[in-house]
Amino acid sequence: MEYRFLGNSGLKVSVVCLGAMTFTEKGWRSAGKMDFKEIQRVVDYALDHGVNFFDTADIYAFGESEELLAKALGKKVNDVIIATKVRGVMSDDPNDRGLSRYHIFKSVDASLKRLNRDYIDLYQLHWWDNYTPIEETLQALEDLVRQGKVRYVGISDFAGWQIAKSVMIQRCKDYSPFISAQMYYSLLGRDIEFEVVPACKDLGLGVLAWSPLAGGFLSGKYTKDNPFPEDSRYSRMERPFLRFDFEKAYFLLDELRKIAEKYNTSVAQVSLNWVKSKGFISSIIIGVRSLEQLKDNLGIVNWDLKEEDIQYLDEITEPEKPYPQWFLDMFAHL
Ligand SMILES: NC(=O)c1ccc[n+]([C@@H]2O[C@H](COP(=O)([O-])OP(=O)(O)OC[C@H]3O[C@@H](n4cnc5c(N)ncnc54)[C@H](OP(=O)(O)O)[C@@H]3O)[C@@H](O)[C@H]2O)c1
Repeated sequence: MEYRFLGNSGLKVSVVCLGAMTFTEKGWRSAGKMDFKEIQRVVDYALDHGVNFFDTADIYAFGESEELLAKALGKKVNDVIIATKVRGVMSDDPNDRGLSRYHIFKSVDASLKRLNRDYIDLYQLHWWDNYTPIEETLQALEDLVRQGKVRYVGISDFAGWQIAKSVMIQRCKDYSPFISAQMYYSLLGRDIEFEVVPACKDLGLGVLAWSPLAGGFLSGKYTKDNPFPEDSRYSRMERPFLRFDFEKAYFLLDELRKIAEKYNTSVAQVSLNWVKSKGFISSIIIGVRSLEQLKDNLGIVNWDLKEEDIQYLDEITEPEKPYPQWFLDMFAHL
């Protein structure tokens, strides 16, 4: 296993992180449901193969994902790095959501109980809250760090300016800074390269890539002739959560198949290896529904894509530059 520093911190995380969103399906999004025996096999295999980093969230099945993760880790629950999140809607109570001091304090205790832990290694703001002053949120996080309930703090799904504003406040107030940004990143979703990645590089946050297979699409099991394979994520979910151009995506899959054949590997491994090749990535948060999928995906730790293949994939998936990026790039040399 390869370990990378989590942003500008001394914490080393496995380059593959196991996401626990697919463990259970209760909630607003049916990403998956796994039998507990299979969850146990998946977690054990991950531990045996050097995975030291696990991601979950309070809203994944209203806490059930945190509970199942802790149950599967058993006695090893304190030997690994666990990341969880706060922000989502947990009930009809108007205060049971968002990033207020009230909700954060209540949520951290609930997550600690479900995780069977005294502290959370990485506590992440799941996404920006338009209604709570960010100063209130940052003060609450700092208090949790000082109380020892939280070791490191990070964000998820923030815009570049939201990251920059938050970190500058943390610096001015001498608070513990965000060390990570958990963001959607895959061959079909490279938007973060324009604003978020430059902000992270400048401010010392490591990027944690979520849905690196675009919810399974980039595993190669989807084809034009069979767009919704039986019992796959895209056939189960009511609407695609991630947006991309299906025509372009099928072309990409054809090219990925050719590359996979060349390396005698799976399409999923080529897709994940491309994410791994990016220096700003601290860890790739994979989601699986079976031990078989985990075994396949963990294969990426044993090999790297050649530079020419990385470049080719970069070229054929290059997103159109939004303004002011094209302007800044055009005149950067002056
Ligand atoms: N911060 C956020 O907003 C956010 C949002 C989403 C996810 N996340 C995190 O990211 C983690 C991963 O997200 P994700 O589950 O969407 O990741 P993903 O890797 O893009 O998709 C995982 C899905 O792909 C399919 N799959 C995986 N490996 C495969 C293989 N080798 N062959 C064939 N199919 C394969 C499985 O679906 P099927 O078998 O059902 O087809 C699996 O559930 C989550 O657990 C969560 O921790 C965070």
